[in-house]
Amino acid sequence: MFNSELMKRLSDCFGPSGREKMIRELIMDEIKDFADEITIDPLGNLIARKKGKGKKILFSAHMDQIGLMVTHVDEKGFLRFANVGGLNAKELQGLRMVFADGHEGVICCEELKENEKLTTSKLFLDVASCDKEFIKENFRLGDMCVFKSDYYETDDCVICKAADDRVGCYILIEALKNHPSTDNDVYYVFSVQEEVGCRGAKTAGYSIDPDLAVAVDVTATGDSPDGIKMDVKLGGGAAIKLKDNSLITHPHVKDLLTDLAEKNKIRYQYEILEFGGTDAGPIHTSREGVPSGVISIPTRNLHTSGEIFNKNDVEECIKLLIATAGE
Ligand code: CO
Ligand code: ZN
Repeated sequence: MFNSELMKRLSDCFGPSGREKMIRELIMDEIKDFADEITIDPLGNLIARKKGKGKKILFSAHMDQIGLMVTHVDEKGFLRFANVGGLNAKELQGLRMVFADGHEGVICCEELKENEKLTTSKLFLDVASCDKEFIKENFRLGDMCVFKSDYYETDDCVICKAADDRVGCYILIEALKNHPSTDNDVYYVFSVQEEVGCRGAKTAGYSIDPDLAVAVDVTATGDSPDGIKMDVKLGGGAAIKLKDNSLITHPHVKDLLTDLAEKNKIRYQYEILEFGGTDAGPIHTSREGVPSGVISIPTRNLHTSGEIFNKNDVEECIKLLIATAGE
């Protein structure tokens, strides 16, 4: 059964790249009774281990979400910002944003001249106050904000913000809670700073030095009129990645995931993403190299405030991850 309550809390929790404290604490609280050992490394990765004497396996889902960082507060109290992670200026106008302390703002745009391009430098945040003291006290350089958007679900699908990659975190949590009896030594990594270049995964991959790594992250789909040409679709099951810009899935890992899906009657589809990358990128080139793959959750409207995924796909991803832990 899909745990909507947990997914909602994960999606609602504040945690842009480099500011993962709250989401880490939420996940820590959720998993503490299920791991043999929990560590937080110097960069802030949360690593839960299920000990074993067998093969060392690393699973990774990133805790961070995309956001904005305040770069300038002007004399009238309007805020300028830089993006933290991949955001498209064209999709930002009119959106509500929320800061760690709950203060909000709305993204507005300067008047554009004819043919002038809309870039982030034309956008500003209106934080709804004429009180200069209030603004000075509460909005400082380096403060970050994220999309404000309510969690919503239908019988089969969810709309929420930061499904990238809180749905991946959800899958790792559920797999850890249902960890199979196995001799494998399994590390569930909740990584930091994926959205700015998989920085947490880089150090976690190095320190754990696994025999096999599987990242769990969202991927795009080709099933809506938004124009992306690819075969992945919502409701088609767990997506086994074959390639993106950071990884060509190791053939043994591709075969392993495919065989496990077939054997356990897990619905799956193959995925080739022509842009983007995941934590498996830096992990697979760590040290002498780590055979790696990705279990992806088909998701529409990536990096917007309304990402959409299918609950059945998530269940299939959990089953495939559990099968991989016990393989
Ligand atoms: Co992302
Ligand atoms: Zn992601």
